Amino acid sequence: MKDNIRHLIQQALTRLTAEGVLPEGLSPVIQVENTKDKSNGDFASNIAMMLAKPAGMKPRELAEKLVAALPADAEVSKVDIAGPGFLNFFQNSDALAQRLEAALADAQLGVRKAGPAQRVVVDLSAPNLAKEMHVGHLRSTIIGDGVARVLEFLGDTVIRQNHVGDWGTQFGMLLAYMQENPAAAESELADLENFYRAAKKRFDESPEFADRARELVVQLQAGDAECLRLWHRFNDISLSHCQALYDRLGVKLSMADVKGESAYNDDLANVVADLKAKGLLSESDGAQCVFMDEFKNAEGNPLPLIVQKAGGGYLYATTDLAATRYRANVLKADRALYFVDQRQALHFQMVFSAARLAGFVPADMQLEHMGFGTMNGADGRPFKTRDGGTVKLVDLINEAEERAYALVKGKNPELDEAELRQIARAVGVGAVKYADLSKHRTSDYSFNFELMLSFEGNTAPYLLYAYTRVASVFRKLGKSVEEIGGQISLGAEQEQALAGKLAQFADVLNGIADKGTPHLLCAYLYDLAGLFSSFYENCPILSAEDEAVRNSRLRLAALTGRTLKQGLQLLGLDTLERM
Ligand code: ARG
Repeated sequence: MKDNIRHLIQQALTRLTAEGVLPEGLSPVIQVENTKDKSNGDFASNIAMMLAKPAGMKPRELAEKLVAALPADAEVSKVDIAGPGFLNFFQNSDALAQRLEAALADAQLGVRKAGPAQRVVVDLSAPNLAKEMHVGHLRSTIIGDGVARVLEFLGDTVIRQNHVGDWGTQFGMLLAYMQENPAAAESELADLENFYRAAKKRFDESPEFADRARELVVQLQAGDAECLRLWHRFNDISLSHCQALYDRLGVKLSMADVKGESAYNDDLANVVADLKAKGLLSESDGAQCVFMDEFKNAEGNPLPLIVQKAGGGYLYATTDLAATRYRANVLKADRALYFVDQRQALHFQMVFSAARLAGFVPADMQLEHMGFGTMNGADGRPFKTRDGGTVKLVDLINEAEERAYALVKGKNPELDEAELRQIARAVGVGAVKYADLSKHRTSDYSFNFELMLSFEGNTAPYLLYAYTRVASVFRKLGKSVEEIGGQISLGAEQEQALAGKLAQFADVLNGIADKGTPHLLCAYLYDLAGLFSSFYENCPILSAEDEAVRNSRLRLAALTGRTLKQGLQLLGLDTLERM
């Protein structure tokens, strides 16, 4: 709908420009927002305020001219001017009802992408394989998965890239440990955290071991067969740990999406040579660096993007530069989204700028760092175990499921064990994911089991439960929406409000595709569930006397159920028919 209104405004602008009322060459970003107070219509735009100055008019004067120039549209019943010059659009309720009927008949629920379909690389999860996945990797994995699903639903071709840390000096230490005692190493690998700790201990206590570790890194880089064998063995085990977690979390990632740092090894020397050929490299303390005007430290001195160390070794940035051109040239991406900790913002700004300067990516390819904040504990500090260690992801999920199990059992003691377990899994994992997804990605957030498992507020249990209420209406009816006739017609205030919200689904998903912000979908579903609740309380469905009214309400309920289910699915949550 917003898109439709933007289009109408654009036509009015074009007309006023042709008539000489507006100067040539204006190409404003037309903003259309949902109104909070429905007495101001359903959508509002501040376009008259934005263009008043270049047009040399008062905002209200321009607003009047715009309203007069707006083409008539079946979906808009009237347009008012409010306050300093807002345009308020009122949605026509018959047109709205028709729109919802079309959504109900469509597997895509009437959702289309606002712009052209694109090929999008989504860089997500990317743990370092030397250690076990911990809570720090949760956000990238879950938020990236949510956005990838939304893009796919809108029709983009999504290429997931799990840029795992599978290379670097720490592997020398791990290989040395595997070599030293193969049998023990094999059994300890079952617990990567312990394995890493044991290897690190040897590294710290024995200079001879440390030397061997360093030697092994050199051999590994030189392609020594035995080193590569051990390295593969280690990575296979570590990746299978990751895969087990992805499966439990219901994250759409597979081994085929893994394209680790090591995959770019062969291109790193070329990256450096190409940067040099472009005249972009300078030497600083023996290291090869790219200096760019826009990156300076607090003292105003240029900051280096180091691509090769004095000793010849390559760095994280070199690999990321190689990855940008692989994504552009081989994957043919129009857009690449990086779901990585906000603390790496400068790294990505510098890599993206250098990639553009070097011509590694076409000028119109979008490179976007979708940074996220830290996951904190209840004390507001980074989330840790009681003894200060990092929290293993697997422990966190186990605890979430146990807590959900106790909760669900308390509410429904009569359910059999298998069903309880199934519900606990959906609620527990869903709660952890939803809590993360519902916060704005750039802010830090406090991990709190009690809050995320609450049946009140913007939580997974609340939304899963809301869905089951819709499901129960149809269970009682004993029919699906396809088996009932009639059509949606909007009478009561609660029906209007619910319908208006349902019609926003496409706008919300398009916003997420733009900004990489799944919390918008959470907020939307939460509002939708709330509006359904007041509709449900105020507008009898099954007991409605009039058949036409009953069918209309059933149809509204069905579309609400589908929207909730689809929305939760896009967030990576499984719905339940009852709980
Ligand atoms: N492995 C890195 C880390 O744990 C994240 C990699 C993100 N992706 C990238 N293309 N740099 O910090």
